[in-house]
Amino acid sequence: MNSKLQNNSIKSSIINVILTPFYDFGGRIAIMFTLVLGLSKVAGGEITFGLLLSYLIYTERFYSPLLIMSQLITSMQTSMAALSRIQNLLSIKSKLSWPAKGVLFGDVEKATKKILEIENMSFRYDENTSVLQDVSLTLVKGKKYAFVGPTGGGKSTLAYLCARLFDPSSGKVKLKGVDIRKYNKEQITDTIGFILQEPFLFYGSIAQNIKYGNNAIKDLDDNDLLELLKKEGLDEIIKRFPQGLSTEVSKSSENISLGQKQLIAFVRAVLRKPQLLILDEATANIDTLTEDMLEVIIRNLPKETTLITIAHRLNTIEDADVIFFIGGKKVIQAGNLEQAIKYLDSKN
Ligand SMILES: Nc1ncnc2c1ncn2[C@@H]1O[C@H](COP(=O)(O)OP(=O)(O)OP(=O)(O)O)[C@@H](O)[C@H]1O
Ligand SMILES: [Mg+2]
Repeated sequence: MNSKLQNNSIKSSIINVILTPFYDFGGRIAIMFTLVLGLSKVAGGEITFGLLLSYLIYTERFYSPLLIMSQLITSMQTSMAALSRIQNLLSIKSKLSWPAKGVLFGDVEKATKKILEIENMSFRYDENTSVLQDVSLTLVKGKKYAFVGPTGGGKSTLAYLCARLFDPSSGKVKLKGVDIRKYNKEQITDTIGFILQEPFLFYGSIAQNIKYGNNAIKDLDDNDLLELLKKEGLDEIIKRFPQGLSTEVSKSSENISLGQKQLIAFVRAVLRKPQLLILDEATANIDTLTEDMLEVIIRNLPKETTLITIAHRLNTIEDADVIFFIGGKKVIQAGNLEQAIKYLDSKN
C-alpha cells in the first residue's frame, strides 16, 4: 500500500509540475500576443492605449479561474476518496437485531435473584477463532465476581457477551431470567454499566462525555452536573483534569491520558447506577491512590449492584465472592481468592 501510495504521489506530482507551468505559460503567451498585436494597433491609431490596457487585464483575469479550477478538481478528487470511506463506514450494519419493545421490567425483576445466567454458550468471532465453548455460569444480584485468566483467554469477550455487545454463536444469555435478546437497547444500557478495557472518548468536553447516552442527565449544565457529581462523591475525579468538566477532548483524544480516559468511563458508568457493573481492567492504568479512591466509590454503590471485575493483579479482586478462571475456551468457577490460589498451586 505504501509503495502504491508513493507511485501515485509521484505521478500526481509530475502531472502537477507539468500542468501548472503549462497554464502559466499559456497565460504569458496570451499577454505577450495581446501586447504585440495591441501595440501595433495603438501605433496605427486603430485603438486607444486605454482599450489595450483593459484587454491586458481581461486576459490576465481569464487565466486565473482556469488555474483555480485545476486546483479545485484535485481537491474534489481527494474529497471523493474521503466520501467513499465515510460511506463505507456509515453502511456498516450491526449484526444484532433489537426488539422494538423491551421487556416489562417489574414482573421479571421480582421473579429472580439471578442477574445474569449463561447457558451452554459458545462463541466465535469468525469461522476459525472459537473463543468460548459450552460455557455456563450464573451471577447472583449483589455479589462481586472476578474474571481472571491468561492474556487473550477470552475475559473481555465473555464480558462483551454479558453486555450483549455480541450475540453467542450458540447457547443463551439471560438477564434477570429473560433472554437478553428480548430487551431493548435502553434497557440494556440502563441495567449494565461497562467500563471497556480501551475506553472511548468523543470529541467535545469532559462534561459532554460524561452525559453521553444518559437521558437522565443529558440536559444538565456544567454547574448542575458538578453538583450531582459532588453528591455521588465523584467530584474528586474531575479535579484530575486541568479545566475540570470543561476540559476539551481533542479529535483523536490524544490530549487525555489512558488512565484519565478510564476515569471518565468510570464516572460515566457509575452515574447510571447500573445493576450490573463490569470493570474490564478498569484500573490498569490508574495510580494506586486514585485506585483506592475508586474502590471507595465502588464500595458505596447500592448493595444490590452486581460487580464483575476483570483484572490481572490479584489485589484488585481480593474481596470477590466468586472468581472465574477463563482460558482454553473454558470457564472454571474457583470460589474466592484463597481457593483460587490453591487451584493455581495445584496446577503448577
Ligand atoms: N474482534 C475480534 N475479532 C476476532 N478475534 C478476536 C476479536 N477480539 C478478540 N479476539 C480474539 O479472541 C481471543 C480472546 O480475546 P479477549 O480480548 O477476550 O482476551 P482477554 O482475556 O480479554 O485478554 P487480555 O487479558 O489481554 O485483555 C483472543 O485470542 C483474540 O485474538
Ligand atoms: Mg481483555
